[in-house]
Amino acid sequence: TQAVPVIDIDGPSASGKGTVAARVAAALGWNYLDSGALYRLTALAAQRAGVAWNDEPRVAAVAAGLDVVFGVDSILLAGEEVGEAIRSEEISSGASQVAALPAVRTALLFRQRAFRRAPGLVADGRDMASVVFTDAVSKVFLTASVEARAERRYKQLISKGIAAKLQPLLQEMRERDERDRGRSVAPLLQSADARLLDTTELSIEAAVAQVLAWARPLLPAQTCR
Ligand code: CDP
Ligand code: CDP
Repeated sequence: TQAVPVIDIDGPSASGKGTVAARVAAALGWNYLDSGALYRLTALAAQRAGVAWNDEPRVAAVAAGLDVVFGVDSILLAGEEVGEAIRSEEISSGASQVAALPAVRTALLFRQRAFRRAPGLVADGRDMASVVFTDAVSKVFLTASVEARAERRYKQLISKGIAAKLQPLLQEMRERDERDRGRSVAPLLQSADARLLDTTELSIEAAVAQVLAWARPLLPAQTCR
C-alpha cells in the first residue's frame, strides 16, 4: 500500500503558513495539521499547571499528556475552548521557548504523525520537511520580509479586536525568528529539497495557487479531488 501523501509547509511566523496550508487542504479535501498549535497548547497547559517553560522534563510530561481535541473551528484543552488563548503574544513566546527543548519535541512527534490519515495531509510548522514528514510529496518553505510579517500579525490582531502596537510586534517577531533559527534542535531553516515561496508581494490566493501547482503533478491520482 502507498503511504498517505503529505504536503509540508514550513516558514517563519506570520508568513501565511496556516492560512495557505488550511486552504490547500480544503482545496484537495485533505486533513490539516497546525503543528504550532501543539507547541502553543503545551506552553498554555504548562503555565496552567504551574510548570516553568524551561523545566524540560516537566514540560515534556505536559506535552505527552496533552488532553486536546481539534474540531473544525475549535481547540479543546481539557474540555475548555482555548483557540483564542493560545494565540496571545505571551503564549507565542512561551511556545517558542518550550519548542527549544528536545524532550518536548520528541513528546509531540507521534502526536503530529497521527494526523497523517487518508486521503492526504497538509502540515504546517518549522520542521515538517526536516523532521516530522521527511517523505512528503511536496515541500514548501513559505517566507516574507519581517516587516510584512509584523504588519500582517498587527492587522490580524486589530481585526480580532485585540490591542496591538506595530513596533513591539516587530521586535517580538525578530526575537522569535532568532530563537527559532538559532536553536540546536530542529531549527527553522529551508530544507534543501523544499521550494521557496516568498509572499512579501504575493496574495493569499496566489500563494495557494502556487502550492497547488507544485503539488498536483506529484500526487497519486486517487488522492486529490
Ligand atoms: O503562527 P506562528 O508562525 O507565529 O507560530 P506557530 O506556527 O503557531 O508556532 C509557534 C511556535 O512554536 C514557533 O515560534 C516555534 O518555536 C514553535 N514551533 C516549532 O518549533 N515547530 C513547529 N513545527 C511548529 C511550531
Ligand atoms: O501561520 P502563519 O503564522 O505563518 O501565518 P497566518 O496566520 O496564516 O497569516 C498571518 C496573517 O497574514 C493572516 O491574517 C493572513 O490573512 C495574512 N496574510 C496575508 O496578508 N498575505 C499573505 N500572502 C498571507 C497571509
